[in-house]
Amino acid sequence: MWKDAVNRALHALTGYELRRPDLRPTGAAQQRQAHAARLTASRRRVARLREANRRLRDQVAAAERSARRARRGISMPPEQAEGALAELGGVPTERLSLTDIANLAGTDKGTIGPSEDWPAHNYTDVYGAYLEPWRDREVTILEVGLGVPGDAWDARIAHGRNEGGGGSLRTWYDFFPRARIHGVDINPAPHLDNDRITTHVMDQGDPEAIAAFLDSLGDVDFDLIVDDGSHRPDHQQITFGCLFPRLRPGGLYLIEDLLSNGLGDGGRGRRSFSEQTLNTRRVLERFRLHGEFDEPHAIVDPGYCADHIASVTFHVPRRAAPHTEAVCAIRKK
Ligand SMILES: C[S@@+](CC[C@H](N)C(=O)[O-])C[C@H]1O[C@@H](n2cnc3c(N)ncnc32)[C@H](O)[C@@H]1O
Repeated sequence: MWKDAVNRALHALTGYELRRPDLRPTGAAQQRQAHAARLTASRRRVARLREANRRLRDQVAAAERSARRARRGISMPPEQAEGALAELGGVPTERLSLTDIANLAGTDKGTIGPSEDWPAHNYTDVYGAYLEPWRDREVTILEVGLGVPGDAWDARIAHGRNEGGGGSLRTWYDFFPRARIHGVDINPAPHLDNDRITTHVMDQGDPEAIAAFLDSLGDVDFDLIVDDGSHRPDHQQITFGCLFPRLRPGGLYLIEDLLSNGLGDGGRGRRSFSEQTLNTRRVLERFRLHGEFDEPHAIVDPGYCADHIASVTFHVPRRAAPHTEAVCAIRKK
């Protein structure tokens, strides 16, 4: 009892109390202890939350990476890709399909892409159907956008089997043994030039640069033009307007990555430029449905283009793995 009285007096005077095994600290000391305990607990909680937050951010980043890959094309497990490529080794080129050749060259037009970090679009299954009949002809090809690294554009596709870039030019070269091939890019790519390939520097967003390039070629028209450059709708439409007049009658003009809309190789390309220029897919879809070009577009001479377009066909090529072809058309001699 006396200790309680002393305690009370001590507490009244100093805020402290005598320590006794059966007495819990009270007053200021108790407050300090409780505060310290709360502080420790909340620090632990913050650490736990930070850890959970870090794990969640990692998961979100991984999910975003895989969604980006899925949007950009087909992601193939590396062992499947290696198996498929190994099977093609030593097969004579003339026996290889356009997709096989594209896969070996490391362009992303095939089903594999340059490496496991860079998925593919599988455009070549569709292109093969259009182009197989021309395989042995002396066709003239122009590709815009070569996937070559340089100061003007960081072409990150140039890695893996596509080291140095130019995978699509090598694909055309091997698929069409008699073709004359021109490649243009905003980055110079003289290392790709050979007996049938010539590269040129050109900005596809600049009509004057395109006109100068065409002048430099002289009297050359094309059987096949492929736009795999910046993927910006305004550039796609300027390029189409300037090059389409140089496509031969019966020729094919292909525009790739209509959904990416133009911030280039980074997979961040769903930006809409619709205030200045309608999305190219939309411009062409409207033309397909209504036979005229909707404003606002960036096609230089829409009248000429409208008069000379025979058909506009969209394709949605997908294939999950090398050996998943679902259709085979066999024609009799
Ligand atoms: C996706 S890569 C082409 C890939 C290549 N066709 C293949 O299949 O391997 C895009 C290329 O377009 C080029 N490019 C970007 N902007 C351009 C522009 N304004 N004019 C011409 N080329 C451009 C880049 O330098 C890059 O090499």
